[in-house]
Amino acid sequence: MAKELVVYFSVYGTAKIVAEEIAKQTGADIAEIEPVVPYDSNRDHYNALARLAKKEHDEDQRPAIKNEIDIAAYDRIYIGYPMWWYTFPMIIYTFFDKYDFSGKGVRADLMKRHFTMTA
Ligand SMILES: Cc1cc2nc3c(=O)[nH]c(=O)nc-3n(C[C@H](O)[C@H](O)[C@H](O)COP(=O)(O)O)c2cc1C
Repeated sequence: MAKELVVYFSVYGTAKIVAEEIAKQTGADIAEIEPVVPYDSNRDHYNALARLAKKEHDEDQRPAIKNEIDIAAYDRIYIGYPMWWYTFPMIIYTFFDKYDFSGKGVRADLMKRHFTMTA
């Protein structure tokens, strides 16, 4: 049986809820992408987060990830994230740059705005 992992990044908790549900329904392991510099999850500060996210995007930044995620141990990986400025948060690009997905085969579908599935 394929070993599955749900990897997610979430600031306000929505992608986390979906990630947990997918892990529950598939029996996959689950891991969170944790930024070195945490994002402000206070919704009253949404405009500041929007500005920061736009800056990261415009400058093609790669915000650092604090934790290691052992993707090599898995055959199929689900990746969950919020839609930020019509695309992935830049930390998802850090995740893609950091790990080698070759040999796993990649299929990407956008599921309900938040989830890309690679298989
Ligand atoms: C900086 C920022 C940019 C966003 N840009 C978009 C967008 O372009 N399109 C969209 O549908 N939602 C956008 N949203 C809404 C988020 O996708 C939505 O709040 C999401 O549920 C947050 O996920 P989370 O709860 O896991 O952090 C944006 C939210 C933030 C904070």
